[in-house]
Amino acid sequence: MAISETSTGPALDDSPATSLRFPPDFLWGTATAAYQIEGAVHEDGRTPSIWDVYSRTPGKVLGGDTGDVATDHYHRWREDIDIMSSLGVGAYRFSVSWPRVRPTGSGQVSQSGLDFYRRLADRLLEKGIQPVATLYHWDLPQHLEDAGGWPARETAYRFAEYAALVAEALGDRVRTWTTLNEPWCSAFLGYGSGVHAPGRTDPADALRAVHHLNLGHGLAVQALRAALPAGTQVSVTLNLHHVRPLTAGAADRDAVRAIDGLANRVFTGPMLGGAYPADVLEDTARIVDWSSLVRDGDLELIHQPLDFLGINYYSPTLVAHHDGPAQHGSDGHGASDHSPWPGADHVAFHQTPGERTAMGWSIDADGLYELLTRVRDDHPDLPLVITENGAAFDDTVNSEGEVHDPRRIAYLRDHLAAVHRAVAAGVDVRGYFLWSLLDNFEWGYGYSRRFGAVYVDYPTQDRVLKSSARWYADVARTGVLPP
Ligand code: NOJ
Repeated sequence: MAISETSTGPALDDSPATSLRFPPDFLWGTATAAYQIEGAVHEDGRTPSIWDVYSRTPGKVLGGDTGDVATDHYHRWREDIDIMSSLGVGAYRFSVSWPRVRPTGSGQVSQSGLDFYRRLADRLLEKGIQPVATLYHWDLPQHLEDAGGWPARETAYRFAEYAALVAEALGDRVRTWTTLNEPWCSAFLGYGSGVHAPGRTDPADALRAVHHLNLGHGLAVQALRAALPAGTQVSVTLNLHHVRPLTAGAADRDAVRAIDGLANRVFTGPMLGGAYPADVLEDTARIVDWSSLVRDGDLELIHQPLDFLGINYYSPTLVAHHDGPAQHGSDGHGASDHSPWPGADHVAFHQTPGERTAMGWSIDADGLYELLTRVRDDHPDLPLVITENGAAFDDTVNSEGEVHDPRRIAYLRDHLAAVHRAVAAGVDVRGYFLWSLLDNFEWGYGYSRRFGAVYVDYPTQDRVLKSSARWYADVARTGVLPP
């Protein structure tokens, strides 16, 4: 099944008390990312990524955890596909590890690395599961970081070369592609607050990284289109923030504008509209010289037609105006003395009241509905796919060997109802990918946070289906969300 051209179906019932039927061609999937699940970091010529180096740096990742073994998916991929097949999902979103397929980032290609993804895609297709490949889910080869990383313009060109070679190798099997996953995190958490690899804390570098990620995206879309057959779907995945003001006052609304600019429009502006937003350029003008950063022709390169936009949504963001020093510690992205929001020192982040997940993120499904309708209003002709949504809770195995996670089921149910409401309101949402198939390496939080529909017992690597996996399997199989 391809991500479909027609997504509106009959009989969309909006009432939360009844079952909600999704359009028949709605795509149901699960998602993972290479560094979070694969392990096998020294195999087949793979070299370290920035996450290998960062996670081995004392004090960076909770518990000193690394992705060295992770869920051992590099060896257990058959079993993991069998699990997906048993769940009846129609698609699997995975990422390709750059340092596994082009170990130095710029030199020779590793055929054995590429073979892993060829076999993976073949097996998925055999099982009737559509492979959806993400090219960059944060594991930059350390070689390229040593050469300057994303703040260096050259990295964008290396990314396009890598996109071309992966497309060449997998293009006959993979029909749906994503360039970058959440470039906001790569730029602002990686180079601004430093809570993600490579852990640098320079606001100017964070903004340089933004531009080069945008440029890399545009160049990669061109490379994919050149290498892939007509009909291939090309996209990018953004963690669009749904930003709300604490009060209706003008100062708080300006805080929303600033964070919306840095979180969302600094990517959607050039990617979908061919220009950086004037207010973001103004807010950050004292930090970076945009006129030398953005060269002639860059904006045309970044502004490539996309077949759909991938949206990752977990929780909304609540902001207010603030006069004192920046208060970024409570923005939900990890504690640091450095802000991931360059130029937004006047913004304070507030906790939304109510229930939270194990990440401390507030649970707010309305935020997803509001975000989807807003994206539709801003970009009316762009199909959307939820490329990630899910929740971490403190799951445990009971004495019967079962994992019951009713809070995750409630979270998924409410967010899927919000997606359904958006579809009923005419938003062209074509699919939903649950984050994540498996418990995995949750970046700075290591293995302490479990997002999986499938529980992983790390010492034995046993997989146990949580109740949410069985629940999601029913939804995916029937296309109906129970009350
Ligand atoms: C977004 C990222 O893409 C994914 O890697 C991460 O695990 C989830 N959010 C949960 O934080």
